[in-house]
Amino acid sequence: MKCRRCKAPAIIDIPRHNAAFCAECFTHQCREQVKRAIHEHQMIAPGERVLVAVSGGKDSLALWDLLHEIGIPADGLYLGLGIGEYSDASGEHTRAFANARGFHLHEVDLRADYGYDIPGAAEATHRAPCGACGLSKRHLFNQAALDHDYDVVATGHNLDDEAAVLLGNVLRWETGYLGRQFPVLPAAPGFARKVKPLVRLSEREMAAYCVIRGIEYQVEECPMADGNRHIGFKNLLNQLETQSPGTKAAFISGFWSRGHAAFTEAADDERAALLPCVECGAPTTTGDRCAFCSLRAKASQPVAIRLGR
Ligand code: AMP
Ligand code: FES
Ligand code: ZN
Repeated sequence: MKCRRCKAPAIIDIPRHNAAFCAECFTHQCREQVKRAIHEHQMIAPGERVLVAVSGGKDSLALWDLLHEIGIPADGLYLGLGIGEYSDASGEHTRAFANARGFHLHEVDLRADYGYDIPGAAEATHRAPCGACGLSKRHLFNQAALDHDYDVVATGHNLDDEAAVLLGNVLRWETGYLGRQFPVLPAAPGFARKVKPLVRLSEREMAAYCVIRGIEYQVEECPMADGNRHIGFKNLLNQLETQSPGTKAAFISGFWSRGHAAFTEAADDERAALLPCVECGAPTTTGDRCAFCSLRAKASQPVAIRLGR
């Protein structure tokens, strides 16, 4: 197996591109894919301030590294979710990465700053933790960007993540979610722009990138994500991809070019009709307390009150 670009011995094959690469050309290929995604979807303009949400996992650390490598000096944001040792290790990986490179890292801690954590939120809402977790992340990534004057929030969602979420949304025809599922969500009053520069790169490629670049990341998956249906969708898509390389990329890019526009109107109308939350000012559908403030009120009750209910 030879590198497609320089003909040296290859260390990784990428069946969907019918190509293999040596370590140096592979990192070049990753940078090119990120540049292409940014350009194709007009994610980031020159001089804009970028905040990367960094979880300590392979994707977001690779993204932070890649952005700097291509000349976008992004700052990081780590959100402490309070999920025991998993969160402790995630924070340590993120801080070690930032310190070693002299990158600026903002930190928000759910328990210290908002009085709750994800296990407590799951208990208080009697729901799977991923709902409270996703809601907290969306709200606080956006809030941090607005508070610190960033133009753009970048997340490490990769090709596998986007294809799995798309499959889930299509199977249930979640039209609202389909309208918002795109590599870039434009800014609007109360919302910073959201971008996903890794959408052209797979999970496996991001793991290889971290190994090649010597990036130490949190390998453990979240212990609370058991039963998360996206894991099942990822497995299904991997089977299809093995039989027919390129399936995932075709599924997702075909949706962007031919499907997404059919769902944007409903999502745009929904966004235009939003009113500020009475407590935090974030956009909400009702103009009352937003979902984040409601969750916070419920989840940050003292344990004694929760038990006494
Ligand atoms: P997940 O929601 O775990 O699939 O993660 C998707 C993306 O959200 C990651 O690639 C990160 O960019 C971001 N992210 C997830 N968890 C955190 C966290 N604790 N702090 C900051 N960013 C995070
Ligand atoms: Fe959110 Fe596990 S990272 S529930
Ligand atoms: Zn609110």
